[in-house]
Amino acid sequence: MSKQAASLLVLFGATGDLAQRMLLPALYELERDGLLPESMKLLGSSRSEMSDAGFRDHVAEAVRGHSDDVDAPALEKLLARSHYQAADSNDESAMASLATRIGELRDGDVVFHLSTAPRLYAPICEALGRHGFGGPGTRVLLEKPIGHDLASSCEINDGVASVFSEEQIFRVDHYLGKEGVQNLIALRFGNALFEPLWNARHIAQVQITVAETVGVEGRGDYYDHSGAMRDMLQNHLLQLVCLTAMEPPSQFDPSAVRNEKIKVLRSLRPIGTRDVGNVSVCGQYAEGAINGKVVPGYLQELGRDSNTETFVALRTQIDNWRWSGVPFYLRTGKRMPRRCTEIYLQFKAVPHSIFGESGPKIDPNALVIRLQPEERIELMLMSKTPGLDRSGLKLSQVALDLDMHDVFANQRRRSAYERLYLDALEDNGTLFVRRDETEAAWQWVDGILDAWRSEGIKPRSYPAGTWGPSSSVTLTERHGHSWRE
Ligand code: BG6
Repeated sequence: MSKQAASLLVLFGATGDLAQRMLLPALYELERDGLLPESMKLLGSSRSEMSDAGFRDHVAEAVRGHSDDVDAPALEKLLARSHYQAADSNDESAMASLATRIGELRDGDVVFHLSTAPRLYAPICEALGRHGFGGPGTRVLLEKPIGHDLASSCEINDGVASVFSEEQIFRVDHYLGKEGVQNLIALRFGNALFEPLWNARHIAQVQITVAETVGVEGRGDYYDHSGAMRDMLQNHLLQLVCLTAMEPPSQFDPSAVRNEKIKVLRSLRPIGTRDVGNVSVCGQYAEGAINGKVVPGYLQELGRDSNTETFVALRTQIDNWRWSGVPFYLRTGKRMPRRCTEIYLQFKAVPHSIFGESGPKIDPNALVIRLQPEERIELMLMSKTPGLDRSGLKLSQVALDLDMHDVFANQRRRSAYERLYLDALEDNGTLFVRRDETEAAWQWVDGILDAWRSEGIKPRSYPAGTWGPSSSVTLTERHGHSWRE
């Protein structure tokens, strides 16, 4: 464990849904493997009054809900570290009691994890600052979304920055904690093979898909103010674009990596009113069927009318030397036919077929990096179809297929939050998002949302269990490409 490993993790929003589903189970997994700093304590906080014992029950319930095979001593150890203090950033005396409690429990660095409504980020940080917790030895983790647009994001970032310096701020995009996403970095920069081909001279198109089968699942109030563009594209998809398109950083460290990512975000061609209708599609799911099961439409789930998009597809361009002219097709949606997160790079066709015009069709090579649900890397190649070829050579497309779960069968897959917690506890910000990235992403996304508004573009309906509105197909086919399905 590094010198700066935290002595106290203060979790705001400790009784919330994210804590229950992801954060507390991730802490338990780290505990089970002896990876938490030995003397670190956990202080849960939220507005509800609760005793330490009540919080320990809550932690145990979250851990048991996540795993059928709970290691009792590890859980006991996690519970022994766990404490609770109610707090409300509007209530000075409650914040003072929280500050006293933090003072009693800390024995070195403190990490504050804000898993609350984002509008509370600045007030909580300001209150922490008033109690002297902004200085060296403290850091703060912020969950997405950081704001709703560029202006609100700047306001939140300013509030947090009035107390913590940028090096102390860890903005979470849980996609960066995923094994598959980090493997994209390993694949690009741990192999010499791809780099010479990784550019506009050799790549014809890139597709990034994040498809979910779930609907909005009781999060309608949040989601309806957000939509697919703000909820997924502004953060997760643009981070995948950055890692796919960035120049090789000189080192795998916070400044070098993030300096390269921001250049990509700043090179995204703005989408304005003139072309928004041609390069973007938004949709909203209606009733349909997924895996043979009928599922309700978005409006039925929400219980009111709404123009919020649950699907978005874009044709984007990165205006720099490496990517000039290469379309990046991005799409994300809820209630798609299957869960799938993947990056698809299609190479250019061979310049000339030696088999003649009436010879076999030669499909372009492609690299598919599948991140979810399974992690695999496929390289699509043309191969001779076995046979005597009396009427000419036959070719078929075949895949060099690497299933990461098979290759590393004995290695445990870590959840994103296990990785991100360890990094934050040890003060390593490489896999967190810097302020300029968040703001550049908002600026680009705001341009599209404004253009939708001024052009009166409303989501088109698509049946649940399909790949979005039919106009999404046109988006690629107009340019001679088609979505991988
Ligand atoms: C979250 C979004 O950031 O990511 C959710 O708010 C979405 O709407 C989730 O379902 C997807 O994450 P994952 O890890 O399941 O791909």
